[in-house]
Amino acid sequence: MQRPKIVLSSRVWRKEHEVLLDYCEVQRWKGPGPIPRELLLEWLADADGFFSSGNVNIDNELLDAAPNLKVIAQSSVGYNNVDIDACTKRGIPFGNTAGVPVEAVANLVFGLLLTLTRRIHEGWELVKNGEWKEVFGEDLYGKTLGIIGMGDIGSAVAKRAKVSGMNIIYHNRSRREDDMEIGATYVSFDRLLEVADCVVVLAPLSEATRGMFGEAEFAMMKNTAYFINGARGAIVQTGALYEALKNNQIAYAALDVTDPEPLPKDHPLLSLSNIFITPHIGSATYDTRKRMTEVAIGNILAGLERKPLPVCVNQEANY
Ligand code: DGY
Repeated sequence: MQRPKIVLSSRVWRKEHEVLLDYCEVQRWKGPGPIPRELLLEWLADADGFFSSGNVNIDNELLDAAPNLKVIAQSSVGYNNVDIDACTKRGIPFGNTAGVPVEAVANLVFGLLLTLTRRIHEGWELVKNGEWKEVFGEDLYGKTLGIIGMGDIGSAVAKRAKVSGMNIIYHNRSRREDDMEIGATYVSFDRLLEVADCVVVLAPLSEATRGMFGEAEFAMMKNTAYFINGARGAIVQTGALYEALKNNQIAYAALDVTDPEPLPKDHPLLSLSNIFITPHIGSATYDTRKRMTEVAIGNILAGLERKPLPVCVNQEANY
């Protein structure tokens, strides 16, 4: 019997990749750089499954080029690169890894918050340069943390902030019924910007959140405010953030995600002294990435057999 064919647009971990080889013909892009679009469409022409990565646009053009696709799985929580309606219309279930990297991302975001407020990175730079000087920062205790996007990751960050003695406010599309349990107070977006000492962005990127932070929003924030983006770069208007930091309209920013991503070496943001950037490593721990790959492969194998994907975004199209 002919084995199903799957296309992988990026690397996966070796052991898990071997599991796929037991069941499927695998065509895998090994880089360098992202797979050229034309080649990807060519490979997908007779593919049954697609193990995609966040840097591939999954749109009508791609789906039209892949008439046999039974399943698409991606090893990430975010799926802003995917036209979910287009997948659903074609009856193709799309699986992500929701729930898996919660603790890893929450730790990174809280780590960024601590690094910024205690200037840990600045202290290390001084010591490396032979200067043994105190660097003064801020306490978290008694400060107000404003979380934009109180999903699983937001509440895991809130838990960490709570034990550090912070007051927590949040804004979401709608109020969470369990916010008392989390110990967070629902406020309007504007109110959050006005009163938060630290603003953390964890909302998914959608048409509603794209460019959500621009000139007006930074102007509403305290000029002592710390701003952290652990979600997607395009939620923030990069030019407006640059101006707000340069003009000390806000105090400091830490980003794990940028727009563009990656940032070119000569990008103006990199010339500022009140910013700290990590290269999109929220979920990058060995255990978490391994588990994410396992979940994505579980989704692929289920879809190939037309069985329900264990973690599926468009349930309407799930088997
Ligand atoms: C996610 O899972 O969406 C992380 O941002 C990694 O891409």
